[in-house]
Amino acid sequence: MNHDLVEKNIGWMLVLTIVAISFGGLVEIVPLFFLKETTEPIEGLEPLTAQQLEGRDIYIREGCNNCHSQMIRPLRSETERYGHYSVAGEFVYDHPFLWGSKRTGPDLARVGKRYSDDWHRAHLMDPRSVVPESNMPAYPWLFENTLTGELTGDKMAALRTLGVPYTDEDIAGAKEAVAGKKEIDALVAYLQQLGILLKHKR
Ligand code: HEC
Repeated sequence: MNHDLVEKNIGWMLVLTIVAISFGGLVEIVPLFFLKETTEPIEGLEPLTAQQLEGRDIYIREGCNNCHSQMIRPLRSETERYGHYSVAGEFVYDHPFLWGSKRTGPDLARVGKRYSDDWHRAHLMDPRSVVPESNMPAYPWLFENTLTGELTGDKMAALRTLGVPYTDEDIAGAKEAVAGKKEIDALVAYLQQLGILLKHKR
């Protein structure tokens, strides 16, 4: 009898369908906010240094994330190639996340320490010089542009409001830590710390 009402009245059908779907969604999503595994940093996780933070912003500015994901799925084909799959606790200080799903190039979640600084510099200056078949663009201007560090402290202060544990000293020393450095140095410093806390292959 009640069921008839729902089946014959599109309004009720709509409302109840939405309630049913939202409930299903909430049951899956809400616990994630309270699970330690998804909200607590993994052991040893530190906020990015001033220089690494500037490197991350260059990474975003240059659109590296349009071709590179930073998230290894727990599938054999991925872990054999890239190393330990990504876990939520690695990203609690990452705002915004750079996980992505588009992979024109390889995933970079564990690229830290995989190559030398010199390799990265050569690769970013001219990808074809180290990987002949590469179709990655070259980024020669990173070797010329110098950082002023004018905004670095403000960026750290903003991140602190989101829960990244920067100290007052970190923020006060930010400008000095990056002023005068080349963009390439900041970007390489950022790349070299990606994913190094969990074991990786190679
Ligand atoms: C148009 C797509 C594209 C863009 C944009 C791009 N890359 Fe790549 N990247 C690739 C491809 C394809 C490869 C694989 C060939 C190679 O190693 O050059 C690659 C390889 C890499 C590798 C080596 C990864 C490994 O495990 O061997 C690194 C590191 C890297 N890119 C960093 C960057 C950074 C940093 C930027 C931004 C400044 C960037 N890429 C922008 C396509 C791209």
